[in-house]
Amino acid sequence: MTNTMNKESKNVRHDPVNVTNNGMNNAVDTSNDIAEDSVDIAKLRTPIKVDLSFVYDFLGARTTQSWVDAAIANLPLIIQDHANCEKKAAGTAMNMMFRYEFSYDLQCKLAQLIREEMLHYEQVLGIMNDRGQDWEYLSAGRYAKGMLKHKRTYEPAAMIDVLIIGAFIEARSCERFAALAEVINDERLAKYYCYLLKSESRHFEDYLALAQSLSEDSIDERVAFFKEVEAELISSPDTELRFHSGAPV
Ligand SMILES: [Fe+2]
Ligand SMILES: [Fe+2]
Repeated sequence: MTNTMNKESKNVRHDPVNVTNNGMNNAVDTSNDIAEDSVDIAKLRTPIKVDLSFVYDFLGARTTQSWVDAAIANLPLIIQDHANCEKKAAGTAMNMMFRYEFSYDLQCKLAQLIREEMLHYEQVLGIMNDRGQDWEYLSAGRYAKGMLKHKRTYEPAAMIDVLIIGAFIEARSCERFAALAEVINDERLAKYYCYLLKSESRHFEDYLALAQSLSEDSIDERVAFFKEVEAELISSPDTELRFHSGAPV
């Protein structure tokens, strides 16, 4: 796992740029590793190319065409759930920040991740606003719960499991943004989903690297376990359509 991570980490670095999001003026400090968050999405002319082979290798199943078709046919719901996901990603990371204060690396990575997820949240809100889409309550799907119920209940195992689950959620998000970007008939959304690939794939790497660095033992067995659980949640029939839902019924 760590060897794979080291090799793969080289594939998702990005170059510093310093512009703002469409109309939101989200100037971001690019001195660290968050440069893509200040790209002006509206000015991008070609999709950002990111090698996602390591994401696909990490996941135990690819998104089905039936999910893509359902998502495209229910875009407002997917956009709403995407907004929810960004907010939840920041909230989960914030909870971890308060719970696990002993690790400098963890605190720094989580602080960066929270900033990025909150920026994504603002960006999705902006997209909803521009599309004239009102906020609607949407219940959480089964996906995160379906993994979290397998979280071990003692430390540091619980922390390691949450980090691994975070890695899967980020990797799946990345895979689904790519799947949608390829077929979506909305140029702005297609560009935005391409733009998100870099940060979400880096979040996946960060979570996985943190899990391994904070564990005294190899995490390979837990990763393999959650790989199966996650693939089952993505592949099996699911009555609710969500950004991370399973095969539409
Ligand atoms: Fe995000
Ligand atoms: Fe993320």
